[in-house]
Amino acid sequence: MSAALAIDVRGLTKRYGGRAVVNDLALQVATGRICGFLGPNGSGKTTTIRMLCGLLKPDAGEGTCLGLDVLRESRAIKRQSGYMTQKFGWYEDLSIRENLEFVARLFELPGREQLVDEALVRLGLEGRQQQLAGTLSGGWKQRLALAACLLHDPRLLLLDEPTAGVDPKARRDFWDEIQRLAKAGITVLVSTHYMDEAERCDELAYIAYGTLLARGTGTEVVRQAGLPAGATLEQAFVRLIEQAQDNFAPP
Ligand SMILES: Nc1ncnc2c1ncn2[C@@H]1O[C@H](COP(=O)(O)OP(=O)(O)OP(=O)(O)O)[C@@H](O)[C@H]1O
Ligand SMILES: [Mg+2]
Repeated sequence: MSAALAIDVRGLTKRYGGRAVVNDLALQVATGRICGFLGPNGSGKTTTIRMLCGLLKPDAGEGTCLGLDVLRESRAIKRQSGYMTQKFGWYEDLSIRENLEFVARLFELPGREQLVDEALVRLGLEGRQQQLAGTLSGGWKQRLALAACLLHDPRLLLLDEPTAGVDPKARRDFWDEIQRLAKAGITVLVSTHYMDEAERCDELAYIAYGTLLARGTGTEVVRQAGLPAGATLEQAFVRLIEQAQDNFAPP
C-alpha cells in the first residue's frame, strides 16, 4: 500500500434525485497531515466523508484510503479509520464507559477493559465514566465521541464538524489533541466552519456546490481565490463562494 498518501481519490461523485451533490471530486492527503475541509452548509462535506470511509457508495469515482480501494475494500477501511459523525451518534442511555465497551466489542478488540480504562484516562473522562452519555454537556459528548473513534487505534480520522457547539476552551483542547495525534502519524480530515480551526490545519480543501474550489495551504487558498497575499482565509472563502454562485448556482 502507499504509505505516502492516506487519502487518494478522484472523480468522486454522488447524486441524489439526478442532482450531483458531490461532483468529480479529487482529493489527496499525505499521511500525518491535518486537512481542513471547509465549505458552506449543504456543499457536500458530510457526503464526501461518508464516501471516503465506505459508508456511502459513490456513483462514480475511484481511489484509495490507507492504500485500500474505496469501492471494494470499504470494510477494511472502516476498521482502520475513525469517523466522528456530525451529529452525536452514541447511545444516550448508556454511560460513557458502557459506550466505549460497546465500541470495543464492535471492533472485537482484545483487552477490552484495559483499553477502555486507558481511553478514559487519556481523554480525561475517568471521573465521569458512569455518567449517562445523554446527560453530558456538548464538550464532554465530543470527548466521548473522539474517544470512541480512537479506541481501535485508527490510522485515519474523519472528523465531521467535531467542535460544533463546543466552547472555546474545549475546542482548543480538542485541537491540541488532534495535533498530537497527527504528530504520531495519524492523518486527519476535519470539516469545520471555524476560521481559527482552519488556521490550525496543515492544508485546506474548500468545497461548494459539490465541487472542490480550492486546495492547499492557507496561503495557496488565498492565492487561488484571487486575493493578494495578506488577505485572510475568511476573505478567501467569501470570495470563493461568490465566484461559485456565479458559476454553479441555479438561475
Ligand atoms: N440521503 C440524501 N438524500 C437526498 N439528498 C441528500 C442526502 N444526503 C445529503 N443530501 C443533500 O446533499 C447536499 C450535500 O449535503 P451534505 O450533508 O454532504 O453537506 P455538508 O457540506 O455536510 O453540509 P453542512 O455544513 O450543513 O453539514 C445537500 O443539499 C443535502 O441536502
Ligand atoms: Mg455536514
